Amino acid sequence: MVARVAVIGAGSSGLVCIKVCVDEGLQPVCFESSDDIGGLWRFKETPEPERANIYRSLVVNTSKEMMCFSDYPMPPNYPNYMHNSQLLQYYRLYAEHFDLLRHIHFKTTVRSVTQRADFSESGQWDVVTVNRDGEEERHVFDAVLVCSGHYTHPALPLTDFPGYQTFSGHCLHSWEYKDADACRGKRVVVVGIGNSAGDIAVELSRFTEKTFLSTRQGAWVIGRMASNGFPLDMTAITRFNNILMQRLPKSLTNWAAERSLNKQFNHRLYGLQPRHRPFDKWPLINDDLPGRILQGALVMKPNLRGFRGSGVEFEDGSVEENIDSVVFCTGYKGTFPFLPAALTNGPNGEFTLYKRVFPPSLSKPTLAIMGLLQARGPIMPIVEMQARWAVRVFTGFCRLPTEEKMLEVFESDRKSNMKSCPCPRQAALEVDYISYLDFMAEKVGVRPNLLTLLLTDPVLWIKVLFGPVTPYQFRLTGPGRWTGSRQAILTQWDRVVQPFTTRAVPEPDSRPTSLYPLWLLLFGGTVVVAGFLSLQDGDQILGQCRTLLRDSWFTKITGATFGLV
Ligand SMILES: Cc1cc2nc3c(=O)[nH]c(=O)nc-3n(C[C@H](O)[C@H](O)[C@H](O)COP(=O)(O)OP(=O)(O)OC[C@H]3O[C@@H](n4cnc5c(N)ncnc54)[C@H](O)[C@@H]3O)c2cc1C
Ligand SMILES: *[C@@H]1O[C@H](CO)[C@@H](O)[C@H](O)[C@H]1NC(C)=O
Repeated sequence: MVARVAVIGAGSSGLVCIKVCVDEGLQPVCFESSDDIGGLWRFKETPEPERANIYRSLVVNTSKEMMCFSDYPMPPNYPNYMHNSQLLQYYRLYAEHFDLLRHIHFKTTVRSVTQRADFSESGQWDVVTVNRDGEEERHVFDAVLVCSGHYTHPALPLTDFPGYQTFSGHCLHSWEYKDADACRGKRVVVVGIGNSAGDIAVELSRFTEKTFLSTRQGAWVIGRMASNGFPLDMTAITRFNNILMQRLPKSLTNWAAERSLNKQFNHRLYGLQPRHRPFDKWPLINDDLPGRILQGALVMKPNLRGFRGSGVEFEDGSVEENIDSVVFCTGYKGTFPFLPAALTNGPNGEFTLYKRVFPPSLSKPTLAIMGLLQARGPIMPIVEMQARWAVRVFTGFCRLPTEEKMLEVFESDRKSNMKSCPCPRQAALEVDYISYLDFMAEKVGVRPNLLTLLLTDPVLWIKVLFGPVTPYQFRLTGPGRWTGSRQAILTQWDRVVQPFTTRAVPEPDSRPTSLYPLWLLLFGGTVVVAGFLSLQDGDQILGQCRTLLRDSWFTKITGATFGLV
């Protein structure tokens, strides 16, 4: 029986891990090297080594109802996409509400985590920490949850670019970038096409003489706003969409997505068109990028080739002279310096993890890694579910397969990702948002059962199937059930609307109703189709109808219209 759990780090992941341990009757001891909670989301004026650092203007790219913890909705008045400082505020409220701070040892850095001599029997770990006075301390723990983050060590590929030693401008990584102050009136190149590259290029383009955005790949760009101004992720991440996406031909969904993305602006014309198709990779989330290109303040460029004195050369042979700064938004190396190297260095230099959580080689599954993955959705609810699963593995309620089986699953997950993402290291990190959450929820015993819901609570069933997969769905039943979860789901759109109600607009006198019966008919039809589709496993009588329906053109066409328009 596991009793004491070391939680390394008190960012968003560490906080929820402490909470989950307490819920399961374990005793968490959290070590945090800084003097405060929040990790990445606590903006620092000077970048701190070995820690994640963000830029001043960073706004989240996942909406509040999707990214909150499952039993603690965000305050209704919070904007749907908030500034980093407000997210930190939410974590402070969360920590206070569940009384988490008393488990945290601040200014205490974990130096090493090693298996004890009797590990194969006890599963215990030796943890060495250095406290605020520089004193080393040794502890024994029954289990370890690693929440140290992985945006800590910038990858700066300078040596790939000839001439960098003699470049007269300044090279920096997005990890060090705070704001545009130092670049006012200058000529700047931003390298990369991740979310940070997009944000930083847009911000710089408002203050510099000219900003160039250099990318090899290009990207599909999408705003935070879906139709009618609702949060994109809340309309995209639904179980119904997921079911359709798994059944429709990928070429069709990609074609429809390309059409709709190019309707916003023509990606080829704007120099952004990537080689990959929209569903191969989650698009770049940015509300302002096309507008800055339209205004000529931001200029698209191909991949960087090298440096020439004060100039920068691109792969098409063009040279931009008098460049003052180059900002590399080239990502991070995920490193865990305190863990045994044998654990973290897989065959391709990656961290081999069963379902992105457990190192398969351990004879006792008493160590879990949190949040080391890429998903098309918010990370926080994923980490919460990882923690709930990990803790139940620690306590013996859930079992893991054999080492061989776990490695097999790792490789087959990777292989299926390779179809859309050709880099093996990257492919190992990718998970499908809903399927991954459901997999873990199934293990924990908290996956919502659509058939039971349809029969017992049809109103909720509609919300769970057609509505956004908000984290509350995983608190409806099973261990850790939260009585407020049903109400939280029923009121989720109210909390979306709340921040907009700052200027009351009177209702129009009369509404055109002529098309109403037609919509009702269509909706009714779709509900019936969805009912069949949602009964995914089990029912054999319906299985037949399902197969028929799945192959029929009616379903495919309804799918294309519903999932993608
Ligand atoms: C620019 C940027 C924007 C992002 N935006 C979003 C978003 O909008 N939505 C989303 O879902 N995700 C986003 N992410 C992903 C984000 O990283 C995760 O969602 C999550 O917040 C990370 O939290 P964490 O607790 O795992 O790591 P961190 O926030 O990095 O926290 C790790 C903590 O561990 C501590 N620590 C590290 N090493 C040690 C040690 N050896 N001993 C003791 N303590 C240690 C650190 O001091 C830190 O407090 C973004 C990431 C980046 C880089
Ligand atoms: C949000 O931004 C972070 C940092 O760039 C990225 O890792 C994550 O995938 C983004 N999330 C979504 C849903 O695009």
